[in-house]
Amino acid sequence: MKNYNIAVIKGDGIGVEIVDQALRVLNKISSKFNINFDFKEYLMGGCAIDATGNPLPDETLKGTKNSDAVLFGAIGGPKWDNVERHLRPESGLLKLRSELEVYANLRPVAIYDELLDASTLKPEVIKGVDLLVVRELTGGIYFGQPRAKEDNRAYNTMVYSRDEITRIAKIGFESAMIRDKKLCSVDKANVLEVSQLWREVVDAMSKDYPEVQVSHMYIDNAAMQLIRNPKQFDVILTSNIFGDILSDAASMVSGSIGMLASASLGGKVGIYEPIHGSAPDIAGRGISNPIATILSAAMMLEYSLNEIDAANAIKQAVKKTLELGYRTTDLASFGARQVCNTTEITDKILENL
Ligand code: IPM
Ligand code: MG
Repeated sequence: MKNYNIAVIKGDGIGVEIVDQALRVLNKISSKFNINFDFKEYLMGGCAIDATGNPLPDETLKGTKNSDAVLFGAIGGPKWDNVERHLRPESGLLKLRSELEVYANLRPVAIYDELLDASTLKPEVIKGVDLLVVRELTGGIYFGQPRAKEDNRAYNTMVYSRDEITRIAKIGFESAMIRDKKLCSVDKANVLEVSQLWREVVDAMSKDYPEVQVSHMYIDNAAMQLIRNPKQFDVILTSNIFGDILSDAASMVSGSIGMLASASLGGKVGIYEPIHGSAPDIAGRGISNPIATILSAAMMLEYSLNEIDAANAIKQAVKKTLELGYRTTDLASFGARQVCNTTEITDKILENL
């Protein structure tokens, strides 16, 4: 029997409840597919600050580095909003991404026909959308130096080296090659030097991928185009901060931010997490949508563990559950036969697995 060591980081807010549901799904996968998961739990974020004073304790960092993959929920909350930046929950996550060198964040956006009405956009605009945001995750303005907050002035630095752009662009091109062979690189080259270099590198690399149709779009236009006509996109390649913003916008195409999974790759160990946050407003009420996290577990099976059948089984079970009309509250007004809480929707997914 195959055995995998999975580092589990539930985090804060709804992170706890959604990861618990993903673990239930993985336990069922374990018995169905004869795979053994060794789950080890670690603290990160606000709960880690409370317990140890550090948003990313050494034990967590070591544990994740020694695992086959990291399954992560969400971090942060109002309780920690006023602590110093390096002690904020978010700093823990950013440090983990950086330490694990997961420079490539894949955020797929696909539409379930059952949820066509759930989007705030018209069904005819979104039917058939199937795109992938490839977001650079360990560089750019999130990590650039110098940075500081002084009394009357504050600054950050957006910086990318040619090598950093090259390696993420390679992921973008290779993703396009196994999809519809269209790559849209999003930047702000009309204003930012860092974007000019980004564009140059992407253009130079396009010669190695003659089959891929490359386009460039400014971030402001891309945000507009994503709402106007999301079907024009196949792979969107972009920097850390633009990808953060565009992927939240793209999630609304799918009806709920509670639906989108992600994989962060590039180093030895991948991190799998929903694209949404810890939702302090609904935390603890047991009504959050666990699907993004369950689908992140499926991405983990696919990308880190190469358990493709198991990954597909989860995706199918989620699809079936939606087809049958089971919805969490975020999607309750859209063709729900039954509105489910966090545990109940997972019960249905387990039934369909
Ligand atoms: C995300 C989140 C994070 C980010 C936060 C929590 C630091 O918004 O994964 O998109 O900005 O990358
Ligand atoms: Mg975000």
